[in-house]
Amino acid sequence: MDQTPSRNIGLDLVRVTEATALTAGRWLGLGNREMTHRAATEAMSLALASINIDGYIVIGEEGRLKEHTPLDTGRRVGTGKGPEVDVVVDPIDGTNSVVTGLPGAISVVCVTPRYSMWDCKPAAYMDKIIVDADAADALIPECMDAPAGWTLAAIARAKGKSIRDLQIIVLDRPRHRDLIDEIRKAGARVLLRPDGDTAGALIAATPGAGPDALMGIGGASEGVTAACGVKAIGGAMLARLAPQSEGEWEAVKTAGIDTKRILTCDELVSSNQIFLAATGITDGPLLNGVEYWGQQAKTYSLVLRGETGTRRTIHAEHRVSLE
Ligand code: FBP
Repeated sequence: MDQTPSRNIGLDLVRVTEATALTAGRWLGLGNREMTHRAATEAMSLALASINIDGYIVIGEEGRLKEHTPLDTGRRVGTGKGPEVDVVVDPIDGTNSVVTGLPGAISVVCVTPRYSMWDCKPAAYMDKIIVDADAADALIPECMDAPAGWTLAAIARAKGKSIRDLQIIVLDRPRHRDLIDEIRKAGARVLLRPDGDTAGALIAATPGAGPDALMGIGGASEGVTAACGVKAIGGAMLARLAPQSEGEWEAVKTAGIDTKRILTCDELVSSNQIFLAATGITDGPLLNGVEYWGQQAKTYSLVLRGETGTRRTIHAEHRVSLE
């Protein structure tokens, strides 16, 4: 992907996330996690096959289903005729939300030039702080170990707000009990989300979107996806691996990854030739979910291009089969 400027594949990629969301949306609230994931993975794989890229999946789907999938890490995707690129796929971010009918699930794919994405395997969890461009200067490495109130004071100062005006997105997990207490004690407001910290990251990085930051531990692969989005939007992010089990600590140590290292967006994705496409599956604060009626369906998507800073929102109507 060394053309200048790079070919815009964002609109090709949004067809991939649209197709995936249209398939996944049919499984909304049906309670079948495995079939939901399998259907979404097949739809994304099929759609990616027709894109003119020579794609290498840096972060894939292995381990989510019993079998290997065409979207596992290391698989090649695309026609092989286009630029050589790194790909991170997330057919569903917020699988549980689709399965149980909760808000905020999206389908996401990111593409950057080959060898520009940080390979987080075998890490599963990552601690993140994400803010928009207005608060970028407040995000210094000390924030990763400081009490949340200290970081919030810096964010508030940078944004010219008082702490009580801040809204902080946090995944609703027992591991965040202390973090949530600290945020509340500092006087800021907590927006608990059931799932989906990629969407949370994109919202936190968008100026004027409402929330002022995302804080806490989510998926490591979602951290790399988030970094692509945050960098394309122009926000800021700090991250550090946060293994959640003995097995994960062991695997990360064996892989020689430094768990103390604090990573920035630029370290998580070194190029600004970023394309990110996301489509809503269930209604959420970032994107509406898929709507079906008769032989038609409507999707709501977002396409980001890092090189130009373009952010497109796309509402599309599709003809769908009645099966
Ligand atoms: P999945 O759709 O892959 O299940 O991920 C949903 C998610 O909420 C991510 O957005 C988040 O990064 C991760 O799970 C957090 O992991 P956990 O649910 O184990 O706390």
